[in-house]
Amino acid sequence: MIKLQNLTKAFNGHTVFSGIDMTIEQGEIVVVIGPSGTGKSTLLRSVNFLERADSGTVSIGDITIDAEHASADDILALRRQTGFVFQNYALFAHLTALENIAEGLITVRGWRKNQAHAKAREILTQIGLADKAAHYPAALSGGQQQRVGIGRAMALQPELLLFDEPTSALDPEWVTEVLQLMKSLAAQQQTMLVVTHEMQFAREVADKVIFMADGGIVEQGTPDQLFNNPQDPRLKRFLRQVGIERKDQEDLAHRS
Ligand SMILES: Nc1ncnc2c1ncn2[C@@H]1O[C@H](COP(=O)(O)OP(=O)(O)OP(=O)(O)O)[C@@H](O)[C@H]1O
Ligand SMILES: [Mg+2]
Repeated sequence: MIKLQNLTKAFNGHTVFSGIDMTIEQGEIVVVIGPSGTGKSTLLRSVNFLERADSGTVSIGDITIDAEHASADDILALRRQTGFVFQNYALFAHLTALENIAEGLITVRGWRKNQAHAKAREILTQIGLADKAAHYPAALSGGQQQRVGIGRAMALQPELLLFDEPTSALDPEWVTEVLQLMKSLAAQQQTMLVVTHEMQFAREVADKVIFMADGGIVEQGTPDQLFNNPQDPRLKRFLRQVGIERKDQEDLAHRS
């Protein structure tokens, strides 16, 4: 189980979020939605201390650490339980797809190179890129790069996978293959915390949807509750905006 308790974070005296509590059960997919600038990325990054919250605790399995007092060793122990998938993939440009996936196993887990490469080949097959093992990121499409980004996180077999808008830097044509891969992970009961604007994905895959606004969790529930029966006016407005944006895009597509 993953638990956030009373997490608070400010930048330069400006509170981004406060009093965030969240529980994610083993195998659950939790999707976080909300307007730009509400602290979704900061929250996600605080879970594995890419960003350090000012106070509160993060628990993953039997590790609990306090944001205020965590030591470097505590943070390392927690990070070993998580994998992070970035919006812009953040692959190593000088490493092949295979080496990108093997890298963490070698440097973080201390695996031998041939062992790590064998595992990376397995992962490449799972993510449908067995034939791209020797390609450098520059020779892969955006969708393929992001699948390698996910493969790299999968290789570490983390308790929790964190995704920060994994499809929003992609050309529309590559979004489906990445969402498809995420769905296959969900089907394997991989616990995931996902920030995304892909409302359809949230509807189909999430066990729980969390709406953040104004520095806190405003509403949470099943996709059915949040999308079909929203309560808070801010959520209603947000859903309308997302809907309107999509309609605008369709209108534009029809006109062009
Ligand atoms: N390193 C930083 N230093 C100072 N302020 C920051 C930093 N990172 C984020 N912020 C501020 O914190 C707030 C929350 O940012 P965050 O990126 O978490 O929002 P978000 O919900 O992920 O937005 P988006 O949907 O646009 O990605 C914003 O006001 C942002 O300007
Ligand atoms: Mg963000």
